[in-house]
Amino acid sequence: MSLIHMESVGKLYSVGGEAVKALDDVSLDIEQGEFVAIMGPSGSGKSTLMNVLGCLDVSDIGVYALDGQEIRSTRENELAEIRNRKIGFVFQSFNLLPRLSAYENVELPLIYRGIRRKEREALADKALAAVDLLNRKKHRPAQLSGGQQQRVAIARALAGDPPILLADEPTGSLDTNTGIEILNLLKRLNGEGRTIVLITHDLSVAQQAQRIIHILDGKIVH
Ligand SMILES: Nc1ncnc2c1ncn2[C@@H]1O[C@H](COP(=O)(O)OP(=O)(O)OP(=O)(O)O)[C@@H](O)[C@H]1O
Ligand SMILES: [Mg+2]
Repeated sequence: MSLIHMESVGKLYSVGGEAVKALDDVSLDIEQGEFVAIMGPSGSGKSTLMNVLGCLDVSDIGVYALDGQEIRSTRENELAEIRNRKIGFVFQSFNLLPRLSAYENVELPLIYRGIRRKEREALADKALAAVDLLNRKKHRPAQLSGGQQQRVAIARALAGDPPILLADEPTGSLDTNTGIEILNLLKRLNGEGRTIVLITHDLSVAQQAQRIIHILDGKIVH
């Protein structure tokens, strides 16, 4: 089975009696090692899809299996565990903690995983080295450029060695050249075997992936 398998997934939001089909009969498969972009205009359902893919939310109907495990019937505490082990998240706004150094930001999810200090050090240093930022480990986010902050966020996502990296508009806050740098980093990580799902409304960003899945009004369009 595919690493990510969705079949006829639906998600409905009701606000004031009005129903919005945020996801409508979505079926998709993403294989281990792929670099896929999910592209669509504002309001098309990208973040809803990302939340379901990332087990931050569950669909109303349909099948979602992640690495062979059915997700919809899984309890929240187990979902948290799955998120922690299987998925690294990267966001448009970096979401780094401002009072912590680059190193401490990367180390934090490893603390949550209960990993001991010595091993944490090795893993965090390895992740910072992978984004070429070992020489900035003591810097706080405000003492780093935007591209460097996003690289720290990517190191944080990588530190626990998750098989999947889920990135929602990771270049959305960066200038063109810095955005290209981040995309090249994602391509390199993909070349090393990591599965990457990139969410964007920008065609030039999506074209960096091996495959583009288009979404419109909650539906996959071909
Ligand atoms: N919590 C919610 N409650 C009600 N409706 C919602 C909720 N979240 C999203 N929606 C609706 O679902 C649809 C899809 O929203 P979503 O956030 O997935 O879009 P998006 O593709 O990520 O857009 P953007 O590019 O602007 O981030 C929209 O019509 C939105 O209004
Ligand atoms: Mg969104």
